[in-house]
Amino acid sequence: MISIKDKVFVPYITANSIHHRVAELGAEISKDFKGDCPVLIGVLNGSFIFLSDLAKSISIPIEVSFVKVSSYLGTSSTGAVKNLLGLDIELQNRSVIIVEDIIDTGLSMKHLLEMVQIENPKRIAVATLLLKPDALSHPIQVNYIGFEIPNKFVVGYGMDFDGLGRNLPELYQLK
Ligand code: IMP
Ligand code: MG
Repeated sequence: MISIKDKVFVPYITANSIHHRVAELGAEISKDFKGDCPVLIGVLNGSFIFLSDLAKSISIPIEVSFVKVSSYLGTSSTGAVKNLLGLDIELQNRSVIIVEDIIDTGLSMKHLLEMVQIENPKRIAVATLLLKPDALSHPIQVNYIGFEIPNKFVVGYGMDFDGLGRNLPELYQLK
């Protein structure tokens, strides 16, 4: 058990299980994009650890870039997405893989997909470490999912509660 500010979290997914699953996703992406050089677009801040492990498990050439959006305050979605850092790479005719830590309501991903689509890429895929199917309220297609989880708040492996907990190597769930 760990405490962050006023909340208590219990261990949920071990670092080992995460690494095993991320390696599988990397192998799948390497196979699906063979002969191509996709751009991985990490969504800051939460995806920085997932993206770095995923990138290392991909065996084909890739490029990496980041965008930054924000929709969360504390432990719930605000219902609006703010653009904090935009695209800085030409995506016309490129294959793009948007890399998220977690898809909750799907609002951020819907926004990100629109932002990338406008650049006329030849192919767009979405990879997320976690998906909360019961919270999803915007229909989006997710191509690579690490784990489907219940609608409970989690921290660790890049994900935070009020800015804290991102450096935890495993995942914890709100008790
Ligand atoms: P959405 O727009 O509702 O899908 O929310 C997506 C974003 O909210 C994610 O990229 C995270 O940054 C954040 N988020 C959603 N659920 C959690 C959680 O359980 N823990 C930490 N951050 C979360
Ligand atoms: Mg995020």
